[in-house]
This record gives sequence, C-alpha cells and structure tokens, in this order.
Amino acid sequence: MAFPKFSPFFLLLLSSFLLVNYPVKCDHDEKYNLYQGINKYRASLNMETLTKNENADCLANEIAEQFKNQPCTNTTGANTVPGTEPQFSNYPELLTKCHLSISNTRDGSVMPACVPGLVPNLVLTNFTQSIYSDVLIDTKYTGVGIGSEKNWIVVVLTTNTPAGNFAPYSSNGADLISRVGFIYSSVFLLVGNILLL
Ligand SMILES: *[C@@H]1O[C@H](CO)[C@@H](O)[C@H](O)[C@H]1NC(C)=O
Ligand SMILES: *[C@@H]1O[C@H](CO)[C@@H](O)[C@H](O)[C@H]1NC(C)=O
Repeated sequence: MAFPKFSPFFLLLLSSFLLVNYPVKCDHDEKYNLYQGINKYRASLNMETLTKNENADCLANEIAEQFKNQPCTNTTGANTVPGTEPQFSNYPELLTKCHLSISNTRDGSVMPACVPGLVPNLVLTNFTQSIYSDVLIDTKYTGVGIGSEKNWIVVVLTTNTPAGNFAPYSSNGADLISRVGFIYSSVFLLVGNILLL
C-alpha cells in the first residue's frame, strides 16, 4: 500500500515546512534604511551604534498600527509639538502585547513620523533634521526599535537602565514562537497518525 507510506512522509514534510516557516519575519527595507541612517548620523558625531531591541521593534509596530489610518498633516509625526502627541488609551495593552511594562519603558522615547510612501531620504531627514534630531544623539539611548504601517514609521529608543531597557525577552519570544510551531506540527503528525490507524 503506497498511500500509508507516503502520508507520514508527507506530514513530516508539511510539519518541517511549518516549523521552519513559522518564525520567519519580514523586515521592510524602509526600517532597515532608517536604522542604518540613524546609526550613520550618530557615527558622524562619534556616537556609538544603537543596537536593535526586539521588544522596542514590537512596540514601534504596535504604535504604527494605531497611527496608520491617520493622514499626514502638519501636526502629525515629526511636526508634532512635543507633549501633544496623541495618547493611546490602550497603550498599556500595547506594552503587554510586547512583553513590556511601564516600569521598563518609562525612560524610552517614542517618535512617530508620517511620510507619504515612506520615501527613504525623507524618512531619514524627518528624524535627523527635525525636533527628533537631538533625541537621536542623546547619550542615554543605547538601543532602537523601528516599526512601520502605511505612511507611518515609528522609532522607539531604549536605554541600558532598568527604567528604559525594554527588558529584552527576544530570545524567549523566539522560543515561544518556534514552540508554537512545533506544537502545531506535532498535532498535525498526531492527527495524521490517528487517521492512518
Ligand atoms: C497647519 O496647516 C493649517 C492649514 O494648512 C494652518 O492653518 C496651520 O496654521 C498649520 N499649523 C502649523 C502648526 O503650522
Ligand atoms: C518630513 O516628511 C514630510 C512628508 O510628510 C516632508 O514634506 C518634509 O519635508 C520632511 N521633513 C524633513 C525635515 O525632512
């Protein structure tokens, strides 16, 4: 009987496919460009490179998600007067989604910008030649996360202190994702095997 022999192999293949593909994340070019651009800007002022912080990335994406349906105006994004940014009532929820809390993000900095089409050069200058430029070169920041949705791009800066380190759980997060992938495939295998009985 060829079919039962073929099935476990097929299921195994399917499982490996799921297992391998589950944790893959797409990194959009505009985020990478901005990351490089910000670090070049800092390097030009003899400042250390900001390291990637995955939890900050997560929060930046969540915030971009909140902004995404707002049009760009002269009062949004980099044109915002500091302190007048829209406050999201669900901010604590966004933090929780990213395994963060108020206590380890308080000293961080969230900087949204709206640039139609996220044109790379305009995106970069919206950070390096705006009210944000001084923040970007503040020595207290050591890490960065970037998220984008539609015309919005959000930079989140982190510190190396407990009040702003965004306590990176990134490896745990990755573990969890692959574990979910693994459980998913195991269930598949189990169901497959039961069907074969
Ligand atoms: C924003 O634009 C509106 C209309 O174009 C104008 O009336 C307003 O003064 C501008 N605000 C700022 C802060 O530039
Ligand atoms: C920021 O982006 C806007 C587009 O939303 C652009 O018109 C403006 O020139 C940019 N500002 C800077 C300083 O690059």
